[in-house]
Amino acid sequence: MKAPAVLWFYCVLFLRNTNALSNHTFPTWFKFGAATASYQVEGAWNEDGKGENIWDRFTHRNSSRIKNHANGDVACDSYHKYKQDVQLLKQLGVDFYRFSISWSRILPTGYPDQVNKAGAQYYKNLIKELKANNIEPYVTIYHWDLPQPLQEIGGWLNDKLVDIFAEYARTLFSLYGNDVKHWFTFNEPRQICYEGYGIGEKAPGLKLPGTGPYKCAHVLIKSHAKAYHVYQENFKEKQGGKLGMVVDTDWYEPATSHPLDREAAERTLQFRWGWYVHPLVFGNYPKIMIERVARRSKLEGFEVSRLPTFTSEEINYIKGTFDFLGFNQYSTSLVKHRPEPEIGIPSYDNDMGTFIYRDPTWERGASDWLYVVPWGIGKALKWIKSNYGDPEIIVTENGFSDHDGTLEDYKRIDYLQSYLSSILDAIHEDGVKVTRYTAWSLMDNFEWYSGYTEKFGLFHVDFQSKHRTRKAKKSVDFYRNVIKSRKLNK
Ligand code: NOJ
Repeated sequence: MKAPAVLWFYCVLFLRNTNALSNHTFPTWFKFGAATASYQVEGAWNEDGKGENIWDRFTHRNSSRIKNHANGDVACDSYHKYKQDVQLLKQLGVDFYRFSISWSRILPTGYPDQVNKAGAQYYKNLIKELKANNIEPYVTIYHWDLPQPLQEIGGWLNDKLVDIFAEYARTLFSLYGNDVKHWFTFNEPRQICYEGYGIGEKAPGLKLPGTGPYKCAHVLIKSHAKAYHVYQENFKEKQGGKLGMVVDTDWYEPATSHPLDREAAERTLQFRWGWYVHPLVFGNYPKIMIERVARRSKLEGFEVSRLPTFTSEEINYIKGTFDFLGFNQYSTSLVKHRPEPEIGIPSYDNDMGTFIYRDPTWERGASDWLYVVPWGIGKALKWIKSNYGDPEIIVTENGFSDHDGTLEDYKRIDYLQSYLSSILDAIHEDGVKVTRYTAWSLMDNFEWYSGYTEKFGLFHVDFQSKHRTRKAKKSVDFYRNVIKSRKLNK
């Protein structure tokens, strides 16, 4: 080899070794975290002045709708064991912890009158403990546990919640905003509205398939926008934090290349993701939703569309109310066009008019909706980039469930490895601005109507023992190594 060629050879070798040339290295600005949510881990459902919320009510009064009649009364007992939780996070070496605040711990009736001091102190302590261990608190304002008194006035079907939610958010900004720089208003609004007010599988368990999801979403989106403006106008300058919403979607792949199936897959993405993100980015619902729901409503004899409309002031008020998009992604589905029933039951599903299923050869998790399809997250990220103005995206949840909570969780490791790899490709090859990754979940916890039968934790929790002992699974080593080395081994 001639001298310059030798130099070049060693130079490339050096860069390879330092990973500067490898697609499997995370950029220096990329951060890692782990997540939980209040009702799923805290327990202490009626301690220290906490009020009742809709999940307390739902699990206590409708226990037959939850596997093994389980509830979150004790859950992982994080209310008492938060210091241990912070040590688990420390063991992982994460940069941040995404947790949610239980509204009825702060404001027991939900209304912004008297702050419950003990409840407020709990999160102060948690945040202090996180900061002392160099872990940033990332806070979800609403992860599904509405104070019961607000459900008594209709919950998210009542427009009054817009102001009430914004005041609750203001309370949190005042209490914690000096330390919290990342806020998420709502977690997975589609689950709140479709499952809570449409098919009734989640609290409050209402079955209003044709109107409930749309009205609920309308109120949520306005509540989000108001909270965003409250922050911008009163806190942004002093606290300098960022705020967004967390929206989830599967990737929807056309089942065939037939134009009708392609359209159906795109329509599904619009009904599920665009429903919330379109208003935040462009001010209004996706055109396809507006058209289809209006047309079907007319057919069904409604005087106006079942999809409520935003006024032009509201459109201007909602448009642009985010600093990043939070994205929960786990799985992929195939989509076929479904011919519309001429007159069917008024329902969100009939409005969408698609047939959704999974490829039975795909590897599965314990949750019936969880299929291991790593390329799906990559396609979804690219789709968001090109349709929503190349926003900053925070992957706010991603993870794998099993039934047994085994410590030898190699399937979880494979899942994390393959999804992280797909995310890295989206960053390096497609220039998607993904800045953070959050593993769901820090530990096994209460998985809503599945109770404790689906485990997503990096740490195992012994729900039989009153100590709720936590134990590291093999995936802890895997994730810690990724975070430490900032790369994936192929
Ligand atoms: C979605 C939700 O945000 C979280 O609460 C749930 O446990 C996980 N994904 C897994 O289903």
